[in-house]
Amino acid sequence: MPSIRTEGPQDGPLIESLLDRAFGVDRHARPSYRLREGLQPVYGLCFVAEAEGRLLGTIRHWLVQIGDAEPVLLLGPIAVDPAHERRGIGGLLVRTALGRAAAEGHTAVVAVGTPSFLGRFGFTGAARYGITLPSLDDPRRLLSLELAPGALDGVTGVVVRASPESASCRP
Ligand SMILES: CC(C)(COP(=O)(O)OP(=O)(O)OC[C@H]1O[C@@H](n2cnc3c(N)ncnc32)[C@H](O)[C@@H]1OP(=O)(O)O)[C@@H](O)C(=O)NCCC(=O)NCCS
Repeated sequence: MPSIRTEGPQDGPLIESLLDRAFGVDRHARPSYRLREGLQPVYGLCFVAEAEGRLLGTIRHWLVQIGDAEPVLLLGPIAVDPAHERRGIGGLLVRTALGRAAAEGHTAVVAVGTPSFLGRFGFTGAARYGITLPSLDDPRRLLSLELAPGALDGVTGVVVRASPESASCRP
């Protein structure tokens, strides 16, 4: 099993290449990318999976705003090298990142992703809270997870990027 470590500045080009292979080079047009435009990731919550010097997986988090509530985390992208899928790397990345997020006091996470994969970690449809991302073709892909029970009670509205000053974990 690869090791998981915090992403560093040197990882950028390899992560971009991995994301191109996982999502395609047209990935920047996706709603989740547009949502993150202009933001810096929450660096302490960005991890890579590595084995024998090869970068095999990536997960990043960002801060977004829903209505007038405090900013919450946006998980994504998460990707594993296609040649190394289904070996538990994706799960390890998600569990590591969510564990760190909870330990740092974050209370909720939203994600645009595959319900059958992220559902394994407790994510469910964000529509139950009235949380929306109108640019999504399939609203069922907008998911949410409470890290602290009740954290999303009363949190409702459109997901927008948080102000850059909210990103609190710069390297
Ligand atoms: C989704 C992804 C990160 C999972 O990584 P992984 O290392 O294969 O994950 P794990 O080995 O921990 O878990 C694999 C399980 O997730 C399931 N899974 C993987 N990708 C899936 C997908 N796109 N849709 C549904 N289920 C998926 C597999 O069926 C597998 O279940 P199984 O073992 O019962 O067959 C990886 O497949 C990937 O990079 N996909 C392309 C990018 C992507 O779609 N990312 C967003 C996902 S929210």
